[in-house]
Amino acid sequence: MESKSDAFVRIATQTHTTSASSSVVDYAIEMRNVNVYYGAFRAVKDVNLQIEARKITAIIGPSGCGKSTVIRCFNRMNELIPGARLTGEVLFHGKNIYDPDVDPVQVRRLIGMVFQKPNPFPKSIYENIAWGARINGYRGNMDELVEESLRQAALWDEVKDDLHKNALALSGGQQQRLCIARTIAVKPEIILMDEPCSALDPIATLKIEDLMRELARDYTIIIVTHNMQQAARVSDYTAFFTVDEDRAGVMVEYGPTNQIFTRPRDRRTEDYITGRFG
Ligand SMILES: Nc1ncnc2c1ncn2[C@@H]1O[C@H](COP(=O)(O)OP(=O)(O)O)[C@@H](O)[C@H]1O
Ligand SMILES: [Mg+2]
Repeated sequence: MESKSDAFVRIATQTHTTSASSSVVDYAIEMRNVNVYYGAFRAVKDVNLQIEARKITAIIGPSGCGKSTVIRCFNRMNELIPGARLTGEVLFHGKNIYDPDVDPVQVRRLIGMVFQKPNPFPKSIYENIAWGARINGYRGNMDELVEESLRQAALWDEVKDDLHKNALALSGGQQQRLCIARTIAVKPEIILMDEPCSALDPIATLKIEDLMRELARDYTIIIVTHNMQQAARVSDYTAFFTVDEDRAGVMVEYGPTNQIFTRPRDRRTEDYITGRFG
């Protein structure tokens, strides 16, 4: 019998082929009427958001408006938080990732995540990539996978002679690129990044931004950033969130980044991007 996770991967791959061959906009993932609660508190209210494939979508807004909560909905990370509860649907190739027959482990492989603080394992650079791949059942040539992943993450040239060195000896920017390499190695479709540069210096930040543009050829990227210049530089689309009168996070406006930053439609967006609020 086909296992839960095989079925989910099959659905993902099948519909992927169909949508890629059509001329309509190819959405990688879509939120429908999503609400997230922490106990009785509604942290995110009625979010509807369609994310275009192989583009970079930025989620911006003041601290506490629910950016991290929203991005965690895309790969079921909120359910690791006790008391967190979601209503609504998150459709990945038309399949709700919260359906009971979907395996969250497969969701998190296909929809990977990079965090604010680089979190390599306290192992060698090589093992940081090989370990996750092995757990996910990779049986190909491991040296090749490690090299390919490090190249894609723009780190290979800096570490190729030190693959067996401890990853924690790398600089912060290198560690973050290693975490990106580790995410890529399990062949996701979507990469989620929650403030991936906030612990990095400006040069390391620009390297990650360049890398994101490269990766958007093959992957769909969703990035949370509190840095508006970063959203403006790197993203194709921007979603602006704020809090309503109940302190719930709401999406105010969503559109092409250029439009959001030059011709915002909502006064709250304008106040935020011009620095009057937040
Ligand atoms: N684990 C949690 N338990 C209870 N409340 C939480 C938890 N995480 C976040 N919140 C609350 O949910 C709201 C949104 O938080 P968050 O998604 O972290 O916002 P942002 O990333 O935009 O700063 C805030 O009011 C925050 O206090
Ligand atoms: Mg956050």
